[in-house]
Amino acid sequence: MCGIIGITSYRPVSSAIINSLKKLEYRGYDSAGIATLSDGVINEVKSEGRVDNLEKNLAIKNMSGSVGIGHVRWATHGIPNTINAHPHSSDNVSIVHNGIIENSTILKKYLIDKGHVFKSQTDTEVIVHLITEHLKKDSLKESVIKMLKQLHGSFALGIIFKDEPDLIIGARRGSPLAVGYGSNENYLGSDSYALKSMTNKISYLNDGEFCIIKKDQVEFFDEKGIKVNKKVLELSTDEQNYEKGDFKHFMAKEIEEQPTTLKNCIKEYVDTINNDINIHNFPWNIKEISSVTLIGCGTAYHSCLMAKYWFEELTELDVTIDIASEFRYRKNRFKKDNLYIFVSQSGETADTYAALDLCNKHNVKTCSVVNVIESSIARDSNFVLPIHCGPEIGVASTKAFLGQMLVLYILVLKMGILKKDLDKDLYLNKIKDLKELPKLVEETLLTENKIQTVSSTFTDAKGSMFLGRGFSYPIALEGALKLKELVYVHAEGYPAGEMKHGPLALIEDGMPVVVLAPRDKYYPKTISNMQEVIARGAKVLLITNKSKDEIVSENIWETIEVESTNDDLLPFLLTIPLQKLAYYSALKKGYDIDKPRNLAKSVTVE
Ligand code: M6R
Repeated sequence: MCGIIGITSYRPVSSAIINSLKKLEYRGYDSAGIATLSDGVINEVKSEGRVDNLEKNLAIKNMSGSVGIGHVRWATHGIPNTINAHPHSSDNVSIVHNGIIENSTILKKYLIDKGHVFKSQTDTEVIVHLITEHLKKDSLKESVIKMLKQLHGSFALGIIFKDEPDLIIGARRGSPLAVGYGSNENYLGSDSYALKSMTNKISYLNDGEFCIIKKDQVEFFDEKGIKVNKKVLELSTDEQNYEKGDFKHFMAKEIEEQPTTLKNCIKEYVDTINNDINIHNFPWNIKEISSVTLIGCGTAYHSCLMAKYWFEELTELDVTIDIASEFRYRKNRFKKDNLYIFVSQSGETADTYAALDLCNKHNVKTCSVVNVIESSIARDSNFVLPIHCGPEIGVASTKAFLGQMLVLYILVLKMGILKKDLDKDLYLNKIKDLKELPKLVEETLLTENKIQTVSSTFTDAKGSMFLGRGFSYPIALEGALKLKELVYVHAEGYPAGEMKHGPLALIEDGMPVVVLAPRDKYYPKTISNMQEVIARGAKVLLITNKSKDEIVSENIWETIEVESTNDDLLPFLLTIPLQKLAYYSALKKGYDIDKPRNLAKSVTVE
């Protein structure tokens, strides 16, 4: 949450900061701001809403200064308005912050007692006054060290100083932060994506570290101020992946890209000639693993749930799953023979990272399934399985969900065969089917027209339900999440068999209910559950797969048929109409599809 950029250069920086903020908008978009230092004066311009609003502010045009910081906000403390927008400045310093200062109330009281006057409702402003206070008697570096020591919580910071015409301080605890190297200019950014258009050479700050960035030099320090050496990483330059092309929205592009992203991922993991799965450098002997725990948030959690069904079906491993924000505070029994798998598109989700950190502290086996391979979660886990789907910009996760499921399915097959839980012929058949998956997804993507038609019913509804059993249940949850986050309609995902234990009471005349009933072993049961909701007046959209057998059921409002494949892979195909349903419903409402309200792509606060 919240995006940070900082540039120190030999030339004016304001327009480069604005351009980077546009890239960072996926991290937060309720307000934006910029501060530059020019002739010993800090100038600040801030606006409510999008970076476009900031850019339109006339004051930006006249902003000079070759050192500056910028911010896009996702509000935590204080409503999203111009006063609470970052940067926050005193006469001496200006600060941008991502994260939460947990002891801000105590610090604020201490600073008010010392005569400091606060302008905003944010927790960030305490940092401004704290460092201003230290600077009265200490050097810049000492002031930074003392100030960081007083802060509790998580943060990434960018700070400029009135008396330092060529210097930015970056500091990290919990929230990610990267430094980029240019020619006679250097950068600070909340992630490499913000920096990619300016450089492909970057370093990451580790937890507790801070850095001093000048236009021709960068130094890193630990929390005590002792210098640390950093590796400079080279990023690939795949700029075209960050463009919408002919699509109206990134979400539409990312949905359509799925056959290609799946194909790319299969190419990385599947030896199509020998029909085998390659997972190179797996660091443990498979015999050492007797159980698995999968952890994630939101959509990533849904792929964990999906994997649980596959692990149980195809291996003898014990499997538990958990939502990261729950796992991190529970009294867990950490086991050496358990593999802890962390699933995250961004690789920066604060709760998932904290859960990983906890596992690392207990010295257990950790593996991550991520999209961003330079991310904190990838860097700090023992083993990484990338999903290879390219940058996902739309806040609503689509291609990453399919990518996560794919990699987890591949892992299940590999562990199943290595542990001898899976019969060799079955393994070979599953790989054969897997190779066909991208083509089937491509064909399923063509079920366009009917979804467009039914979407208005969801747009106008008070609420809706998504039901599924077995392998379809995680997909029902994911379908409901997509509708909630994009269409702002209450949507509940439920195991179809559980309806009679309470939620049936919610069904009223005309309520749209999506029933996922592919022709798998649960089919007859799900169809019976569907009848129960139809009998109570629900308008059922049945999503099933193509079959020669007729659907024996009456009063179904609409039916969508996806392609057919083996039962394990049907969840991939069932997901497609649900992604499109949310997309078209949001489009009808005229909502901002790539940046839904109250959300951000990378959730780096608790
Ligand atoms: O980057 P992550 O996969 O860790 O993000 C986890 C969730 O915040 C994310 O999946 C969220 O639920 C999506 N916006 C859903 O579309």
